[in-house]
Amino acid sequence: MLNGYHYTGPLPLGSVVAHNCGAAGLFSDPLNPDVLLVAVEEGDCYILIVSVCGQERRFEGPVTSLGRRKIGQDLLVFLREIQGLDPYNEWGTMVGVRPTKLLHKYIDTYGSIEEATRHIRDEFSVSKEKLDTLAAIGAYQRPYVEGITDKDISIYCGIPFCDTRCVYCSFPYGLYQSYEYRDDFIKSLLLDIEDIQSLRQRYVLNVDTLYMGGGTPTVLDEQSFHKVLTSLSHLIEEGREFTVEAGRPDSMTKEKFKSLQACRVSRISINPQTMDDDILRIIGRGHNVQDIHDMYSYVRNHTNLAINMDFIAGLPYQEMHHMVHNMDYICQNLPENVTIHTLAIKRGSPLYDLQMQEQIPHESVVRDMVQYAKERLEEAGYVPYYLYRQQYMKGQLENIGYTLPGKACIYNINMMEERQTIISAGPGSSSKWMKAPLFRQKKQHMPKDVTVYNETIQSLLEKRHALCNSFWEVP
Ligand SMILES: C[S@@+](CC[C@H](N)C(=O)[O-])C[C@H]1O[C@@H](n2cnc3c(N)ncnc32)[C@H](O)[C@@H]1O
Ligand code: SF4
Repeated sequence: MLNGYHYTGPLPLGSVVAHNCGAAGLFSDPLNPDVLLVAVEEGDCYILIVSVCGQERRFEGPVTSLGRRKIGQDLLVFLREIQGLDPYNEWGTMVGVRPTKLLHKYIDTYGSIEEATRHIRDEFSVSKEKLDTLAAIGAYQRPYVEGITDKDISIYCGIPFCDTRCVYCSFPYGLYQSYEYRDDFIKSLLLDIEDIQSLRQRYVLNVDTLYMGGGTPTVLDEQSFHKVLTSLSHLIEEGREFTVEAGRPDSMTKEKFKSLQACRVSRISINPQTMDDDILRIIGRGHNVQDIHDMYSYVRNHTNLAINMDFIAGLPYQEMHHMVHNMDYICQNLPENVTIHTLAIKRGSPLYDLQMQEQIPHESVVRDMVQYAKERLEEAGYVPYYLYRQQYMKGQLENIGYTLPGKACIYNINMMEERQTIISAGPGSSSKWMKAPLFRQKKQHMPKDVTVYNETIQSLLEKRHALCNSFWEVP
């Protein structure tokens, strides 16, 4: 397999090249590239020369968004063939992270889900099966993405720490227990959250949903967890959707459950990833299957929290019978939501460096697992309600969130479809301001480095105030 690529040339074409190289399993590697891509603009035409394995290939297209898309599609087919991958998989030449966002845009333009999916099929050669899934998700989401006003927002709070590192994951900034400036972090985070409260009052915002994610938010010590959660709870009215990622049972305590209850949290995640102890150990989770059972029963017996459960298809040593077992568990217990992820091998994750490629199931096996999960979940009454794709995913598949009817996590829809403003607190989080009808975004990214976040929090909040003021235009 080829690993690295390097591109030089016009920037707009560069982002298309990056997406399509990623979809063919290539990482940007300027120092040691296997594939060299050099582009120029000549008149109103792009010319892209690709050098790989001693051969050169030329791609051309007009200097327009359609021209860039055409070059990207031809490049994807070429690179996937060289990689020994199926050049035309179920998603055809569609490489975007948010296919349903495009679907909604096309529903707005062409007037119906049927017309929108027809255009997607014609432009990207997406299979009938994927189009049916897109249509089902579009239909579920439509009432939530329509009629959002400028003053409706969601709020996100991100805790970028965990207490152990899962081998496939590139999310966390680090281990909480090893971070020296924990007190400064909590202080800055509380300032950040309180500042959102002042924005909410000043601009008279309607907070639709609130999501505390990570990392592992429940990694905070009980006192800090309670303080942060209490401060967050002031941002949202009683009865609204308030979700906390409590995915790792090893990070939960009875006290933290009390805080969830006291702060009116309505949904949590309990994330097995797999219901197999050997694989859990290999991927570095700090919990076993029994811990999942225990936490699930505790939540069902002592709270009325809605539960989401995350699974991954394609983990090292995973076989079909593991997915059968996972789905048996789900169908017996029926959590409100289930998310089936497809393994993405991310640079920056230990899995990438450990070179465990041999232990990772073949993409055809992963495809079968994902298909099997879909059939079992749908038989059990679940419907798909959000979908996203990532680069470097096994088989170029997708992540799908399923829900029992009427139980969806609306924040996931708001976040994925990018039609509602989301104001975010915490290092590495992003705020996005959206306005109909084009939903072009103003954005603010908080620094990923927690110490930089702590040290610059005042100026970050000032910048956020300026962005809010220009968006909501208070003189
Ligand atoms: C941002 S993580 C946070 C969840 C929480 N910290 C936990 O692990 O329980 C959300 C989900 O993304 C999925 N995920 C993370 N890295 C992944 C990868 N490389 N490939 C596929 N899924 C991944 C996992 O299922 C995980 O539960
Ligand atoms: S999967 Fe969750 S717990 Fe594991 S390292 Fe990533 S964010 Fe942390």
